[in-house]
Amino acid sequence: ERYHYGMIGLGVMGRNLLYNIAENGFSIAGFDLDEEKVKELEEGTASGMKVKGALTLEDFVETLETPRKIILMVPAGKPVDAVLDNITPLLSKGDIVIDAGNSYFMDTNRRIADLSSKDLHFMGIGVSGGEKGARTGPSIMPGGDVEAFHLLKPMLEAISAKVNNEPCTAYMGKGSAGNYVKMVHNGIEYAIMQLISEAYDLLKRGAKLNNDQLYEVFKEWNNGEMNSFLIEITRDIFQQKDSLTDNYLVDQILDKAGAKGTGKWTSEQAMEIGVSIPTIDTAVTSRILSAYKEERVQASRLYTGKEITDPEDISLFINEVGDALFLATLISYAQGLSLLVKASEEYGFGIPLKDVVKIWRGGCIIRSVLLEKFYAAYTRDPNLSNILLDPEISELVKLKIKGLRKTAGYAVANGISSLGIQTALGYFDAYSTESLPVNLIQAQRDYFGAHTYQRIDREGVFHTSWQSVNN
Ligand code: 6PG
Repeated sequence: ERYHYGMIGLGVMGRNLLYNIAENGFSIAGFDLDEEKVKELEEGTASGMKVKGALTLEDFVETLETPRKIILMVPAGKPVDAVLDNITPLLSKGDIVIDAGNSYFMDTNRRIADLSSKDLHFMGIGVSGGEKGARTGPSIMPGGDVEAFHLLKPMLEAISAKVNNEPCTAYMGKGSAGNYVKMVHNGIEYAIMQLISEAYDLLKRGAKLNNDQLYEVFKEWNNGEMNSFLIEITRDIFQQKDSLTDNYLVDQILDKAGAKGTGKWTSEQAMEIGVSIPTIDTAVTSRILSAYKEERVQASRLYTGKEITDPEDISLFINEVGDALFLATLISYAQGLSLLVKASEEYGFGIPLKDVVKIWRGGCIIRSVLLEKFYAAYTRDPNLSNILLDPEISELVKLKIKGLRKTAGYAVANGISSLGIQTALGYFDAYSTESLPVNLIQAQRDYFGAHTYQRIDREGVFHTSWQSVNN
């Protein structure tokens, strides 16, 4: 009897996803170059699961029913190509290879073309939720060939997270749409994490809250309209004690952030296709800036004397920071989703925005109750170009904008860096301004470079021979 699925790459994510699949009644074989991992796989299998570890690729391929459905969970980039080089000669017409890692969408396009010339299907599938999500129910963003997708659909629906009994997985569109949606998910993830860190800094250095108080604030936020995975884990982080010292662990962690590339790709993509996502850009660049630790130390000694004034009313201040975080987060989602709208046109993905926010409601890192409101907005208008244009969302924005302005003002006045908060507000103000001052930029461009301009009162393209005024 052959196995339903195959998994290549038995690191934490691959292994957890494999057990999740097996637990849902699908038999599955696993392969990894590391034999230890293959052995551990069978040892860790619970009763009732049909799991087999394969020590050679040949054995692995032979074990699978046809058309074969092989999931790759290996690091993005060269490792994916290396696996494909080894496995494609062993496959037969109609087999499906599913890349579940954070691959760059252009790489997926290339691999789709490559494999289709061999009559094989290649699909890019975004999987979010970390280790735990992979095991107990992630959010899954599949894209690619529709017929191949339908073969996988029952399994994807079974293993994904559920919200109101509905699976957190849906078809995200053609080609590499699945990877693209996951990339933007990560860009939004970067932005929200940046914003949370800024709120933390304002509460810590501004309101002088200690970790126990921070825990209480995040707990309260998580119990209300800001309920989300990232707020929840932040709450818990403030209670984690260090095992090496008597301090809280968060205070012992070096302030240099790592990044594996998906945030950067999101920003590059937005620039490439002309979409404004400044809060995501800022989140990427803030991680870069954080790595200049030594220079920051030097500069902090040079530019001393920044005095932080106590907020007048602490509980009002905490509420304002909460509103700022809520609204800046909403604006970050708005930026990311607007990138998906444009990318869908640009690359012909056909991304259903309504389904994107629907499947992000559970399982993934950026899950939050706010997504329920976006889902309602796209239900009202599936072609909404920006969620800020939805009338009900606009009511929410109006409730929170004062807190965002006051928080941004406090941060600026007190020299507390808050790039994410400032750009979210700046984006909102530009987006909601009828006449921007770029008429002047157009005049300058035409002045020095004859780049031409359009007029507000008549059609056509104009150029003026601008006169210098000598006095
Ligand atoms: C997820 C995460 C996951 C991973 C990111 C982190 O949705 O489960 O986004 O994909 O944690 O790759 O990326 P950085 O290492 O770049 O922060």
